Amino acid sequence: MNRARALPAAGASEPTAQRPLPRRGAAAAAAPRLDAWLAHRAVKPALFALALVPLALLVIGAIAGTLGANPAEALIRRSGDWALRLLCLTLALTPLRRLTGWQALARWRRMLGLFTFFYAVCHFLAYAWLDKGLDAAAIARDIGKRPFILVGATALALLLPLAATSFGRAIKALGAARWRALHRAVYAIAPLALLHFYWMRAAKRDFDEVIAYAAVLALLLGWRAWRALER
Ligand code: HEM
Repeated sequence: MNRARALPAAGASEPTAQRPLPRRGAAAAAAPRLDAWLAHRAVKPALFALALVPLALLVIGAIAGTLGANPAEALIRRSGDWALRLLCLTLALTPLRRLTGWQALARWRRMLGLFTFFYAVCHFLAYAWLDKGLDAAAIARDIGKRPFILVGATALALLLPLAATSFGRAIKALGAARWRALHRAVYAIAPLALLHFYWMRAAKRDFDEVIAYAAVLALLLGWRAWRALER
């Protein structure tokens, strides 16, 4: 099994054996050293631990009562923020690998893709528990009533099969072509997550962060579209 193919949703549609863009001078000399450093066996577990820090801070904040006047809202919003940040980070790995030649970055995609899903699930659970008291009927009504909730739920529903098929055995069972086609859903998930965020902030007329995320996602998805047109 080619491990590079057993990677998560984001960036899954790029062929994995691409050569990096040519670089010159000091950057070219430093790249293999940095790549070797990034491939060190301690880096991935360190990244895993780092990805759990936001959750740990939220749990500690909730216990210590330092999440502000509305801790439930803080838990829902901050977990949503991390789901979106990790989605952007996962999508950034392939362009970064292509630009720098750091092949080690490919080994992080599955893990960061799964952390995106993990934080999206935490976000949903925080909402379902703290906002809706785990009342399935109330959640269903909210999905039908508020379009921004419907869009968030659609993004989460689309993330589910990607997370479930990000393992070697699933790729084998699906076949590479079907697996890649399925993982192209990330091109719908990213705009849906952004629309969910936009809709929520539009009610408050607070667009600064939305514009920043829109610019990052436009760059990352635009780069992929440009690469696809080039081929
Ligand atoms: C069933 C799925 C989802 C539900 C029910 C849901 C629900 C919510 C709710 C209730 C809020 C807070 C609204 C407020 O405070 O006024 C929120 C905000 C947010 N959600 Fe979701 N969401 C879902 C999925 C997602 C997904 C998949 C992502 C990203 C990948 C996401 C990212 C965000 C972000 C970034 C915010 C704004 C946080 C902020 O203002 O700082 N959500 N969501």
